[in-house]
Formats: sequence, structure tokens, C-alpha cells
Amino acid sequence: MSVGEAVVRIEGRDKVTGAARYAGDIPVAGFAYGWVVQSTIARGRVSSVDDGEALARPGVLAVLHHGNAPRLGEADDATLLVLQDPRVPHLGWPVALVVATTAEEAREAAATLRIEYQVESHDAAFRAEHPRMYVPDHINPTYETETVKGDVDGALATAEVVVDATYTTPAQHNNPMEPHAAVAEWHDGRLTVHDSSQGAYAVKQALTRLFSLQPDAVRVVSEHVGGGFGNKGTARPHVVLAALGAAAVDRPVRVVLTRPQLYALTGYRTPIVQRVRLGAHRDGRLVALDHLASSQTSKVLEFTEQTALISRSMYASGALRTRHRVVALDVPTPRWMRAPGESPGSFALESAIDELAIACGVDPVELRIANEPESEPASGLPFSSRNLVACLREGARRFGWSGRDPRPALRRDGRWWRGTGVAAATYPARSNPSSASVTAEDDGRFTVRVTAADIGTGARTALTQVAADALQVPMSEVTVLIADSDFGPASVAGGSSGTASWSWAVVAACRDLLAQGAAAGTTAQANTGKAVAARPDLARHAYGAHFVEVAVDPHTGEVRVPRMLGAFAVGRIVNPLTARSQLIGGMTMGLSIALLEESTMDTRFGDFVNHDLANYHVAANADIQSIEAVFVDDPDDQLNPVGVKGLGEIGIVGATAALANAVWHATGVRHRDLPIRPDRVL
Ligand code: MOS
Repeated sequence: MSVGEAVVRIEGRDKVTGAARYAGDIPVAGFAYGWVVQSTIARGRVSSVDDGEALARPGVLAVLHHGNAPRLGEADDATLLVLQDPRVPHLGWPVALVVATTAEEAREAAATLRIEYQVESHDAAFRAEHPRMYVPDHINPTYETETVKGDVDGALATAEVVVDATYTTPAQHNNPMEPHAAVAEWHDGRLTVHDSSQGAYAVKQALTRLFSLQPDAVRVVSEHVGGGFGNKGTARPHVVLAALGAAAVDRPVRVVLTRPQLYALTGYRTPIVQRVRLGAHRDGRLVALDHLASSQTSKVLEFTEQTALISRSMYASGALRTRHRVVALDVPTPRWMRAPGESPGSFALESAIDELAIACGVDPVELRIANEPESEPASGLPFSSRNLVACLREGARRFGWSGRDPRPALRRDGRWWRGTGVAAATYPARSNPSSASVTAEDDGRFTVRVTAADIGTGARTALTQVAADALQVPMSEVTVLIADSDFGPASVAGGSSGTASWSWAVVAACRDLLAQGAAAGTTAQANTGKAVAARPDLARHAYGAHFVEVAVDPHTGEVRVPRMLGAFAVGRIVNPLTARSQLIGGMTMGLSIALLEESTMDTRFGDFVNHDLANYHVAANADIQSIEAVFVDDPDDQLNPVGVKGLGEIGIVGATAALANAVWHATGVRHRDLPIRPDRVL
């Protein structure tokens, strides 16, 4: 058996030696460079583009803008309809692309463009009380905006204990190590693109529609990807600009975004205001849970983060209401960032649960266990498996939780005040339709093809393990080729669904090949289209529990994190090495969001004032001390053939709340506004 083995990444050596090529490294013959020019106003129209000086400069091949760029067809995502009309919907919107033979020539020429604007007044000031806040038809991706069960207001009015608190989280930006890049080439009407993407097939589908092409006329390859965290989940404007540029100058064009350019062009997590109201008996058992989330979107595309979704599945309560509101502002379009919904939602819910435990004088681990539901609270569906209690118990045991004095601000250690906190985590266990093929080669080896993406997760390695077991051979006899849209439709590396979705198709293809006899030269194909929707009668989720210790210096406001421990019930573990990396990566990001990450909007300009890693702080090695992720047994045969639940996102869920709860325990100060910056600590 290969599944369950701690196998190192197959492409690890290529990556650390620089042999692995990323989209911006692909040496397509004769390519030119495209430099993206962004609007300097927050709202209005481009009235003129004077490109005379730019076009006269050496090496400059073209200046594309709304007046001369090739026309695009349709898009599900209007952020991709770039250079099509003079409207400027937010600061940083693409208004031109300068194409030149070198990157330096393109960038220098871009600085000489004279772009005139008709400026209109803009509104980039997010607040929950915004008069244009509205109830969207659905939330990301297609969830109901509101759910109501029972009489929430009535139950709150008569509850013995009530927690009513408002939590705010700022805009946060995905900062993958590799910024977005693409090189596009047209040949005989066929478009080939190397793109840094979480889903080559999704990008192919977007380009097919945008350029009004037949499906077989577009190929997208994303062989190696240096992270994404959601902002490479679908096509982003850079890939469209590369294809437009290549069409205009009739040679391949490479577009690489700088890190500052990401901040307006590729998505971010919306700022969110959440009001959570809990009503409970004095022993901590919930009678009402009310969760209202307000967020922002742009005027280009409605995106509503599914922030209160987590409250639909976590705790038993007689009455339950979850609601979402959104306001469209003159700001860049927010999109997915690791555990959209569950990350901010769990900060609010799991902080409020901690506040309830304190109000009731009940241990926060025991209070959560006392509120275990028998079926999914909002839907009433039975769980395929639910091992949250085991996560809480195992995490508490390993962390040394028992005997904890619940009183705050008691533990001094020199200049440090110490405290511990806990929070629970959940994330949906999803599978999406995918296809795969497997070929028995003449030399006895096997080649698997699946349009999976490995964004640093170890997906290529995990799929090789899965395929080897399905073919009943050692891993060394299997080559898995990924991330080429010519391999057929497949799900994205998103929503923690990648391994579950792709492995389902891979296993089906491998079993089919064996059933056919696996003669040399034969190929078996599988498409899981219908199978993945097989069990809509079950609530399917992964679970976890976080335990965090903090040390707070009350004089400087510094918060250090000596220990983080997460216990996770996430189905079968295909590869404990890469699985642990995913989980501690998520936990690190949870710490980062708790203490550091904050995109600050200057509402006068409609721009994020911090848009690079010097000014947008993310957790670095020095911020991490002891961090451990452990697994709790979680057998579940009702999910998919391998029994995986997905674990790319659950590590971040709840980690932030556990840390904030520990800061309360250390200091007696409740933090409902993130991040817990030094100036806010006491
Ligand atoms: Mo993840 S935010 O679903 O790529």
C-alpha cells in the first residue's frame, strides 16, 4: 500500500534545484513582454490614451487599450472583460497593456503613457450600516443567503445567558510566493497558455468563452504553481491580457504581475462585520444561535463571502438563524482566500462560544461537547461522519488542557503574561466531477493523466500513491501527469476538494484498466460526473480542534505563540507528510490573520495603502515556535473511493479564534477586532 505512507514530493528536487519551470519561466520561442498599466483613479472613465511617446520607444510593439484591443466575447466573471470599454470601476483596474521585446522596455514605455480620465466621485468606505447594504440572491458559491429555524428572537429574549457581540475582520490579501503569470501563444487559431493557476481546465473554459473559440482550440498548462490560496482559483485578468497581447502582436506574450499589482487585480478577502448572538441555559447548552455577516463586493462582480455558513453545521441549538448582507463599492473585487467563509466565520463563532463558556463558568471544551448536534443543525441531514468530540478530547489530552485555571490574567512569567485557548474547526468535505485516464505502457509502466493542480500541496505525489494502489503496483511504476487541460475536465485545487475529486476519477480509470486486462498500449478513461453527486442525503464535513498558548508582553503589546496544536478528523490520510504540511500551513495562516494580516483601505483614493510584503505582514519563521498537527481516526466510506475529506483549508479554520481566546485568558482583554496588533493588546 502506498496510501498512508509519508512520501516526499515527487517534484521536490526539481523545485529546490530550480529545474521546475513555473508559468513565468516557460521559454516560448520569440515571446514578448506585456506590462499591465492600472488606473490611477477609483471611479470614472478613460477619456484619452496618448501612446505616441511610448510607441516611439525602442522595442515597443504595441500599446493596447479600450480603443484598440481585440474584442472579447462572454465571461461569467466580468473582472476578465479587460480593455473593452473606458469605464474604470476601481483603482488599479487595467487600462492598458504595453507590449515590448523586453520587460524593461515595456515598463519604461508604460511610464510615458499619458492617460486622461473623467473622474467621478467614489465610495470605498465599507461599514455594516452602509445604506446600500443589501441581501444578495445567494452567497459563494451557490449557498442560501439566509437560513432560519425556530424563533431566534423569542429564544434570545428568554434565554438565561446571552452573548451578543460584534466581530470585525479586515480585508486580507492572498500572497502566494509566485505572483500570477502567464504566457500565451496563438498558432493556427489555437491558443496555448501556460498559466499560474489552481485549475487549468477552469482557465481553459473561461478563455474559450472570452475568445469565442471551440473547446479544442484552447490548451492551458499549469505544471508547477507556487501557491494560490484561492486567488488563482479561476482565470484572472493577467491571462486574458497575455492572450489579448499575443493576438495583437502576433507573437507569444508573457505577462507577469508584480506583487503590488496583485492587490487590485486578483482578489482578496473582503472586510467583514459579524454580529453573533448566543442564547443558552446556565449550563451552557444553546437555545439560540444568530449569526449575521456583512461584507463588501465591487461594482464589477458580486461576490459574497459565505461567512455565517459555519454556524449552520456546528452546534445544536433550538433556534438558529444565519444571514448575509453585502454592499457594492468602488473597490477591487474580493474573492476566495483560504477557507472563505469558515476562516472569518469561525473567528466570530468560536470567539462567541468562548465568551459564552466564560459567562456560564463552563470549561470551553466541555461546553462545545455539550452542544454536539445529532444531525446537521440547519439542514437536519445525518452526518456521514463527525469526530469533533474526538478532536477536542485528543487535542486536550496532548496539549495538557486538564486542570487549566479558567480565570484570566493570572499567569506571569517575567514580562510575559501567559494564557491558553481552544476553538473548534470544520470544513465541508467536497468532491467535484473530474476525469482521468490511465495507459498501460509497453514497458509495463503506467501513465495517469488528470488535469489536477499541485499548488505546493503535494497533489501530484498523493495522486501517484492513489494510482499505485488502484493498479496494485509500487509507486515507482506509475507516472502521473497533471495540469494540462488537454487531459480533460477536472476540478480545481480549491474548496479542499482536489484530492477527493481527482482521486475518484483516477481510481475509477485504474480499476477499469485492470478490469480490461491492462494489456500494453491500452488506455482506460473515467469521468465521475454523476457519481460525485451520489449522496446529497448526507452532511459531509471534516473537523478539528485547536489549542494555543500565548505569551503577551503588556508593555510592548507583543503577542508570542509558544505552542499551537491541532487535532484533525479529516478522513483517510493519503500522505501524512504533505497532509501535516497543509494543516500546519493553515494554522500558520490562522496565526498570521490573528496577529498580522490587514489590508488598509485609504478611502480617499480607493486604494489599499499596503500592497507588498514590506507593508502587508504575514507570519514568518520567527513567528512560529512549536506547531503540531495530529490526526484522529476518521473512517468514512460514504464520501469517495479513497475516503479523503480534504485538508487544505481546515487548518486555518478556528486557529485564529483559539489564539484570540488565549489572549483573553492571558490578559483578560477580549479581542473582537482583528488583527490583535500591539497597539490594541491592552
Ligand atoms: Mo481555496 S480559497 O478554495 O483555493
